[in-house]
Amino acid sequence: MRAARWEVVVPQSGHSNIGSIEITNAEPNAAAAIAGAFAQTGMIASIVTSPSGAAPYVLFTEALAEGSVTSRHWSALSAARQARKSGASLVFLQQASATSGLEGLSRTLRREWPECQSICWSLIDAVPAENLISWLGNTSEDLWLSADGLARRAVLGELVSPRPIASSPQGLWLVTGGARGVTASCAIEFARHAGGTFILAGRSAETAWPEGVPETSDLKALRGLMATSAVKRGEKPSPAAIDKAARAAIAGLEIRATLADIRTAGGQAVYMPMDTSNAASVEAVLAVIQSKYGAITGLVHGAGIIADRLVEEKTEDELARVFAPKAEGLFHLLSRLDLSALRHVGLFSSASAFFGNRGQSDYAMANAILANAGRALAADLPQARVKVFDWGPWEGGMVDATLASHFKEQGVPLIPLAEGARIFAHELLAGDPSDVELIVGTVWSEE
Ligand SMILES: NC(=O)c1ccc[n+]([C@@H]2O[C@H](COP(=O)([O-])OP(=O)(O)OC[C@H]3O[C@@H](n4cnc5c(N)ncnc54)[C@H](OP(=O)(O)O)[C@@H]3O)[C@@H](O)[C@H]2O)c1
Repeated sequence: MRAARWEVVVPQSGHSNIGSIEITNAEPNAAAAIAGAFAQTGMIASIVTSPSGAAPYVLFTEALAEGSVTSRHWSALSAARQARKSGASLVFLQQASATSGLEGLSRTLRREWPECQSICWSLIDAVPAENLISWLGNTSEDLWLSADGLARRAVLGELVSPRPIASSPQGLWLVTGGARGVTASCAIEFARHAGGTFILAGRSAETAWPEGVPETSDLKALRGLMATSAVKRGEKPSPAAIDKAARAAIAGLEIRATLADIRTAGGQAVYMPMDTSNAASVEAVLAVIQSKYGAITGLVHGAGIIADRLVEEKTEDELARVFAPKAEGLFHLLSRLDLSALRHVGLFSSASAFFGNRGQSDYAMANAILANAGRALAADLPQARVKVFDWGPWEGGMVDATLASHFKEQGVPLIPLAEGARIFAHELLAGDPSDVELIVGTVWSEE
């Protein structure tokens, strides 16, 4: 496991004579300012609706325009798709902020479109357009540019070692996605060390186990058992209805098992159905928690889904579905929580945010947003330990048997459940607060 670090990059002297650039007009004011600055150096800067291929570089202003988090990132992705055939190098501009994650797109494009240079420049504060000029043609990296002329890049820092957990905070913890999947394993391990009350939240209902059916977590076997049981009762449910009921039963089983394990580990545990992608659902559940238990002191955001597909085929609906529980969900939570009461924040991100990943442009962007939001929170909340975990693939959760064998073929080690949970608990309870974004590729002992 390593922490993300920032390294200052020094521009080469002078700017490259690249002749001409195209700038998308999604954010007209920014496009005009950049075009003006470039024109002053004698370059031809054209503001375009869609890149024509006439210039070797395209600067995208889609993410600088007004719009929801999801729509800004979708606009940038679809604009990139239109520009691919132009053969130009692509430079995505975004404000460096808690709601930006376009570096997830540029990092993924470098994997999916190796023939096409794609980079992302994150603008810290009001970076004068002139500051961009010295970098064009002089870098192939994602940069964070600040108004004082400095540029930084994200690099992997030194190895992070576990620290002993000294205190037991006994807080009120809200764990989204915490009843099922890998976040559940983390919540149980965490309860062992932290104690307190754990509110686990997910979309599933705590469905009771179907009467007369033996308990199993094997979906295929359960479908068969439920079909046989229905026939015995003289019913003829459709295969789709049986599948839905079996999945709901397994979800209920998993929820009850996690609650029981947290109690055994020494914590109080409650399950509350909540859809993080739905602002009203988040608001309603937070109101209940506030009135019954008081202020939440620890937020763990593990809710997330994947909808993998290459950028060329990615749909707006898929991107929205991936952004909704994770990125939009985080903002639904943060805008309704009493942030001053928070002492711990743990965000479940992915290594795809840091490295990009084929087929995961939307997921990489949503997770990069989590990393940026985590950094912003750490700066705003000095009383809280904020950790963003850029997990590599786990031995569980959304990594099913097919994905696991794919990783095995590629020689990518999977994070064992117990090891990942241990890393999570130690870092969130005792890790160095200045290590906010952690890239967890494998177990500590192997690094
Ligand atoms: N497993 C890995 O290898 C891996 C690697 C990197 C990062 N991660 C991250 O770790 C987190 C957990 O992943 P996982 O592997 O455990 O996935 P998983 O098995 O698919 O579990 C996802 C969890 O999120 C919950 N969830 C999904 N959408 C939700 C929504 N709209 N509102 C509330 N809860 C929601 C699910 O509960 P319900 O279905 O009941 O809603 C479930 O508890 C995710 O954020 C994922 O991106 C996982």
